[in-house]
Parts: sequence; structure tokens; C-alpha cells
Amino acid sequence: MSTAKPTILKLGGSVITDKNGELAAKTEAINRIAEEIKRADMDNLVIVHGGGSFGHPTAQKYGIQDGLKEPSQKLGFSEAHHVMTVLNGLIMDALVWHEIPSLSITPSACIITENGRIKYFDDTVLCNCMKMGFVPVMYGDAVFDEKMGFSVLSGDQLMTYLAVKLKAQKLVIGVDTDGLYEADPKVDKTAKPYLKLNLEQLKRVQAKIGGAQTTDVTGGMAGKIAELIPAVEAGVTVQIVNATRNLRVLRGLTGEKIEGTIIQKA
Ligand code: IPE
Repeated sequence: MSTAKPTILKLGGSVITDKNGELAAKTEAINRIAEEIKRADMDNLVIVHGGGSFGHPTAQKYGIQDGLKEPSQKLGFSEAHHVMTVLNGLIMDALVWHEIPSLSITPSACIITENGRIKYFDDTVLCNCMKMGFVPVMYGDAVFDEKMGFSVLSGDQLMTYLAVKLKAQKLVIGVDTDGLYEADPKVDKTAKPYLKLNLEQLKRVQAKIGGAQTTDVTGGMAGKIAELIPAVEAGVTVQIVNATRNLRVLRGLTGEKIEGTIIQKA
């Protein structure tokens, strides 16, 4: 049994899917990342992935993030959850074929939110998985909500929740840019990534940043930073890496020096 503190790897929806497409998985990227995860050979790894062009368009179409308002949304809830299981299946396919002992844990089957925030989390299976040396794989999902009927749980909320709950040493966040930028690099070509931020600096960045452009029912960039803050406050080292580039996930996991943004409490 491993005594290493867990590392959490978050794979953003824009890394594993084409956010401008519809149900468009980036299978080559998924396979490459699975290979890097295998090579990293981590003790105590937990993977969380986002929804990209699987979860977001469906959730938005039926207003799942606004809760249950009319019966016709129920099928939308099923569909939003279902497309996430399809995307998760593709990730699991790559992990299992790369001989990584991993297990998918469906958030909607063990988590209930209250007004969109995690309220109950039955972590029995998750903990058992980790104890036995499996890599648990969770994801952003359509979940039941105590007040709203249902809601959308983002992979970002989930990764921080897990990082704090499991007292993770590190959270590696794979995105499609070279870290956290001063301005949106897809709009402002001269924008540069931050190399290192402490908690106070991160809060200042959050105050100044705007929302992301593509369909994101779970908060855009400012929302993503807000989700990060509790993990940093709890002393987890956060590293944001460009997971669309070769070897960045591997090096992020193994702690080698790479481009990207490192965020630490002090
Ligand atoms: C969203 O997950 C899941 C659903 C919309 C059902 P995320 O919010 O974590 O996805 P990305 O990483 O932003 O695409």
C-alpha cells in the first residue's frame, strides 16, 4: 500500500475534446496522455476530466445547470450524464489499453450537490480504489441537487474538493495553453503566462480576468480560478500545464521543470 500523498490530474475538456465541435473527442491526444500517465508510473494518482463538447452543449441545451424547472428537462439530464459516460469510456479505453489499473467512478452515483456545490460525497469506493492501488477516474457530470433537483458538477469543483479531502500534495491541471495567462492568449497574441503565483497574486488575477468564449456552463476562466483557490489555501501545489503538447503531462506528474504556471500558497 502506498504512503505517498495523492496527486490529482485534471484534464480539461479542451484538451480531450474539440470544444467547437459536437461530441468531438481528440482521440490522439487522449492516447498520448494515457501513454504519458503510464510512463509517469505514479503512486496514488487520481484523474478528473472535463466535459468539453460532450457535456457542455447538452447541459446548456436543456438548462441543466439551472436546475429542474419542467419535466422535459429530465431527458436532458439523462443525456448530459450519458454523453459524459461516453467520453469517460474513451478515456478509460485509453487508460486500460495502456495497462493502467484504473476504475471509472461516476460522480452522479456518489455525489449530491446543494445549489451546485458538493454536499454529500460517498467516498467508500474511491478510498477502496486508492487503497488497492487503482487509479480512480472521475469527471464533470450532471448530478442530483438537493435544492435544484439537478445541477452540473464541474470537473474543476470536483478536483479541488478531492485535492482538499484527500490532502493531495499536487494538482496538475492540463489545459490547452501554456499555463495561466495575463490575458486570453487566443485573443491577445502578446499575452504571457505567469510562471509562479502565490495565493494573493492568484486572487488578484481572478479579480481581473473575464469569462471564456466557448460554451461553458460551469463558469469560464474566472470560475476555474475561483475553484482553484481552496486547494491553494489548503497547501496543495497547483501546476497548470499545456496538455496538448508532448510530455508536459508526464513532466508535470513527475515534477520535472517545464513551462507552465506553478501556484503555491506562499
Ligand atoms: C462539465 O465538466 C460536465 C458537464 C457539462 C455535464 P467541466 O466543466 O469540468 O468541463 P470542461 O473541462 O470545462 O470542459
